Amino acid sequence: MMDKPSTTSLLRTKSDQLVEAISAAMGGGTKSSPMNGDVAGGGGGPETLSRKSSRRLTGASPGRSGGGRNNTHIRKSRSAQLKFDLDEVSSGAALSRASSASLGLSFSFTGFTVPSDEIADMKPFSDDDDIAEDIEAGTRKMKIQAEPTLPIYLKFTEVCYKVVIKGVTSTREKEILTGISGSVDPGEVLAMMGPSGSGKTTLLSLLGGRVKEPTGGSITYNEQPYSKHLKSRIGFVTQDDILFPHLTVRETLTYAARLRLPKKLTKEEKQKRAIDVIYELGLERCQDTMIGGSFVRGVSGGERKRVCIGNEIIINPSLLFLDEPTSGLDSTTALRTVEILHDIAEAGKTVITTIHQPSSRLFHKFDKLILLGKGSLLYFGKASEAMDYFSTIGCTPLISMNPAEFLLDLANGNLNDVSVPSELEDKVQIGNSDTETRNGKPSPAIVHEYLVEAYETRVAESEKKKLLAPMMIDEELKSKVVTSKREWGASWWTQYSILFWRGLKERRHDYFSWLRITQVVATAVILGMLWWQSGGDSPKHMQEQAGLLFFIAVFWGFFPVFTAIFTFPQERAMLNKERSADMYRLSAYFLARTTSDIPLDLILPVLFILVVYFMAGLKHDVCAFFLTVLTTFLCIVAAQGLGLAIGATLMDLKKATTLASVTVMTFMLAGGYFVKEVPVFISWLRYLSYNYQTYKLLLKVQYKEKNDWVDGIKVGNGVKEVSTLLAMVFGYRLLAYISLRRMKLHSGA
Ligand SMILES: Nc1ncnc2c1ncn2[C@@H]1O[C@H](COP(=O)(O)OP(=O)(O)OP(=O)(O)O)[C@@H](O)[C@H]1O
Ligand SMILES: [Mg+2]
Repeated sequence: MMDKPSTTSLLRTKSDQLVEAISAAMGGGTKSSPMNGDVAGGGGGPETLSRKSSRRLTGASPGRSGGGRNNTHIRKSRSAQLKFDLDEVSSGAALSRASSASLGLSFSFTGFTVPSDEIADMKPFSDDDDIAEDIEAGTRKMKIQAEPTLPIYLKFTEVCYKVVIKGVTSTREKEILTGISGSVDPGEVLAMMGPSGSGKTTLLSLLGGRVKEPTGGSITYNEQPYSKHLKSRIGFVTQDDILFPHLTVRETLTYAARLRLPKKLTKEEKQKRAIDVIYELGLERCQDTMIGGSFVRGVSGGERKRVCIGNEIIINPSLLFLDEPTSGLDSTTALRTVEILHDIAEAGKTVITTIHQPSSRLFHKFDKLILLGKGSLLYFGKASEAMDYFSTIGCTPLISMNPAEFLLDLANGNLNDVSVPSELEDKVQIGNSDTETRNGKPSPAIVHEYLVEAYETRVAESEKKKLLAPMMIDEELKSKVVTSKREWGASWWTQYSILFWRGLKERRHDYFSWLRITQVVATAVILGMLWWQSGGDSPKHMQEQAGLLFFIAVFWGFFPVFTAIFTFPQERAMLNKERSADMYRLSAYFLARTTSDIPLDLILPVLFILVVYFMAGLKHDVCAFFLTVLTTFLCIVAAQGLGLAIGATLMDLKKATTLASVTVMTFMLAGGYFVKEVPVFISWLRYLSYNYQTYKLLLKVQYKEKNDWVDGIKVGNGVKEVSTLLAMVFGYRLLAYISLRRMKLHSGA
């Protein structure tokens, strides 16, 4: 594993040289159509070459000599080959330096590992390498991209989206997107820009199939509507990073690889893929650091974002959606991230990303651009032609400006430092106070209206015609989108065991929190002291001890409920994310999640009973001791079931805690200690109360031989109680499972 970075860099070296040599020979090269069937073949076509070459050739060369500044061997060899401007890199923080070096030129981005025999053949970088060897490197490059994916052409026409907002007195509809059209082909990167709240995330979710039905318009993938078979071909990086805070970077990516990669790969191959992605994304320095979250310090924000990207690209998706992958990154790392997106696109994937505030260099990396303003389309087309289009409608920057900044200003309706189109100028001159702002510029609303109208009249129709024209793509591509079989990355059992261990790792910190241990032990000691050596020989003593037994039944029927109700509501976002990607079966998740808690949840009660049992001087009998422990276990597992069911049904912590407290209190009151003679019409409540069943069992264990009636309760043979508790253990869990199944994906998450 350790030799990976240097070998990757060797490969890159050669390919870079090849790219330069060929592009020089071709005089720049022209961009071939992405409709070319070769896209899936791994981006080795002329398009790739010309694009890469232009990128590299514009970069400054001092990188090679500057490489010596880096202190590790790996970095040295890497930075020695990278032809981007090292000044930028070295001026950044160590992190950005490391990440840029490794993020840099990852042409091998499709999840491809270099066979070890090929690695052995590689020669180190040398300026004298000749073209023949470069060509060889080129062929290697194509070999590396060994896993072509189905090319997907995405088209969307007149996409509208409305939400119904329910107020206290009225409900109203809010239009979030109005008639958005566009298309993106394999090999292209489409960027969506627009001010905050303009609808980027909404559009991205619609295109990625994350919101089920758009309220209007059509979205097609290779001319076919969305089908759930596409789930495994789509990578979706959400705007909020949804990751487990207590797993390390490597664990996160390894679990993702093991769950999501096809079954035909072995566990080792999947793990290797995860490691490859770690190196590709420059995460090697933090691979053993915990992700962290609001309560735990972990990796940096930029690293977390890259882990999210890694989580998705690990599956080598045909369609990759990213919601603001560069927000919060420094400009160098942002540039590297976008370069990665390019490399992914070059390998024949379709990439769609939303972006806030790109730098001008970053802006030029996009093939296509969608500019949104208040949910309307202001521009769709080639990113390179956006400025020309806006100048034809009379908007040109008056000072030199980053094009992205200019476009965002326009989308915000801000015409400062921008020429005012004559049509709008007329309006301002007429002196309508509504249209005019203080500095004599038209108001944002007017500018927005003008831009929407301009796009509608000048471009929209012709674009729509293009979009409506049928595409000349293979029938095979069309059919594969809808017919490919849904394949799980792992068998049910493997999914279960992966999720089980992942759950254990993620929550290992919770289990042994000193707070919980102290709480339990302290309660046990207090109880032990209060009931110190309280023998149960006489009925009076028995009655006294019954109080302790009831308290045990209540204590262990209380805490598990309140811990379990958090289980599903807390993991809701993660569950939504992973289920949208078809990572596992719900049943495997459910069982893993509910069983991974059990072993550790049973350690504390043993500790508790040990203390209480001997301090309080309960029946001196090994069998009685173990039966007491077993009864407590049953009570805990049943109570957990109730908590899980309440949590999964309501999926809202506030509501769940309220309902749980009412239920637990009712069960406690019906537990047989406070009220001995319950009216018939409510006596059924006792059968639902696990406190009652546990209490009865505990009494039986302690006093069965001595007395049939203890504290006004008839102690039976215990079969009824055990079966009722077992029914609760499974019944409540079944209810929880059904509720999860019925939970709508994405709602509110
Ligand atoms: N379910 C919803 N109910 C009400 N309003 C919604 C809903 N979903 C989105 N919106 C509104 O739609 C608009 C667009 O939201 P969206 O998240 O797509 O914006 P965005 O362009 O991604 O913004 P940002 O750049 O801040 O992420 C916002 O004004 C938002 O408040
Ligand atoms: Mg957003």
